[in-house]
Amino acid sequence: MNSLPPIRHTPAQPTAGVLSGFEGVGRSRRWAPSTLYNGLVPDAYILGIESSCDETAAAVVRSGQELVSNVVYSQFVTHRPYGGVVPELASREHLRAIVPVVRQALDDAGRSYQTIDAIAVTKGPGLAGSLLVGLSYAKALAYAVEKPLIAVNHLEGHIHAVLLEERQKGNRELQFPVLALVVSGGHTHLFLVEGKSGAWRYRDVGHTRDDAAGEAFDKVAKLLELGYPGGPAIDFLARHGNPQAVKFPFAQIKHHDRNPQNRHADDESRVDFSYSGIKTAVLRYVETHDMREAIMRRRQALAALASPVREDYLAACDQATLDLVASFQHAMVNDLVSKTLLAVREQDAATLLVTGGVAANSELRTSFEQRASEEGLAVYFPSRKLSTDNAAMIAAAAYPRFLAGEFAAPELSADAALRLR
Ligand code: KG4
Ligand code: ZN
Repeated sequence: MNSLPPIRHTPAQPTAGVLSGFEGVGRSRRWAPSTLYNGLVPDAYILGIESSCDETAAAVVRSGQELVSNVVYSQFVTHRPYGGVVPELASREHLRAIVPVVRQALDDAGRSYQTIDAIAVTKGPGLAGSLLVGLSYAKALAYAVEKPLIAVNHLEGHIHAVLLEERQKGNRELQFPVLALVVSGGHTHLFLVEGKSGAWRYRDVGHTRDDAAGEAFDKVAKLLELGYPGGPAIDFLARHGNPQAVKFPFAQIKHHDRNPQNRHADDESRVDFSYSGIKTAVLRYVETHDMREAIMRRRQALAALASPVREDYLAACDQATLDLVASFQHAMVNDLVSKTLLAVREQDAATLLVTGGVAANSELRTSFEQRASEEGLAVYFPSRKLSTDNAAMIAAAAYPRFLAGEFAAPELSADAALRLR
């Protein structure tokens, strides 16, 4: 067996403080609600495990407010030759990585299996085979060390990545109504978040009708031979191109979803997205502007390098490619920001959370910050390391469930299409 490539660590950053305000936690079976809201909740160290896509991750989080350890083993080296995640390879890599990653997270936290209070694991949505590795491991571990097991929705995890870091910074004021944009390789979702009367609740007020935004970044990068994953590659290259060079129009989607499963009673106030068209528009542009040859030359130049870095990709790009990339990113960002702010107005939201892998994008962050400040709206992002998949977000999302005694039954199974409600 090959040794695992290096894993990303986030060293412990000890912080003090009690929980209040920002938590939105529910009724507790262990502690009376009054004790809870007085900030007298005992500390709970939760071990989070995440394996829904192509990252094997484990983390320890204290009481949903302190990142104690965070280990992520990313499989992008495995999937890079294919320009996308290969599910069978992803499951195999999770199997190889899960034990050392969990051990590392506990070691970094200075904790043992006995000194954690609960184990939280991603139940879905995601790739079935990938989810099963983390879930089976977490179930076996919980049984063996006699700790409660908590099932977490991956999308809820992304939302709690923001809340965890805001609490850690000492920000405990969260103004409702809260709207969350979860934008990643597998999802583009708008949720109205309710956390006032008990556990967190989520209402889907918009989602993509076809491709996720991150998927569009990855597919365009693959088409143009810009490396994998496509989002960070495009983010870097776009800084060197003209964002106004190519215009990509987007449609406003305000009509009913044809899929009855996706229909909602309040469809009138929904704001949906669609990102399969822009991928085809980029392909058409490449063909009508004779860019195929330049793509082939780039492919050959990069294939000659053992492990090309982003500067090598930049050197292999002509100005027409850089302009196309910058225009693509600009159009994606503009559509994401405009539609999200439209939803903010429709839902009368006071706070906006933007999270998921694509939330790491520099232009997206700048644009949201600028436009939200013009509208007097508070906008929060996770740090870049907690934007993409990690297990700290799973451990943080599990904390209110831990307080409420919402533990998973032994027959817990993975749900690849799990919805967030
Ligand atoms: O949240 P995540 O790690 O996994 C999913 O839940 O899907 O998101 C991965 C996605 C990929 O599509 C990747 O290309 C995109 O996030 N991404 C970015 C950036 N960093 C990661 N997209 C745009 N700009 C970035 N800087
Ligand atoms: Zn994710």
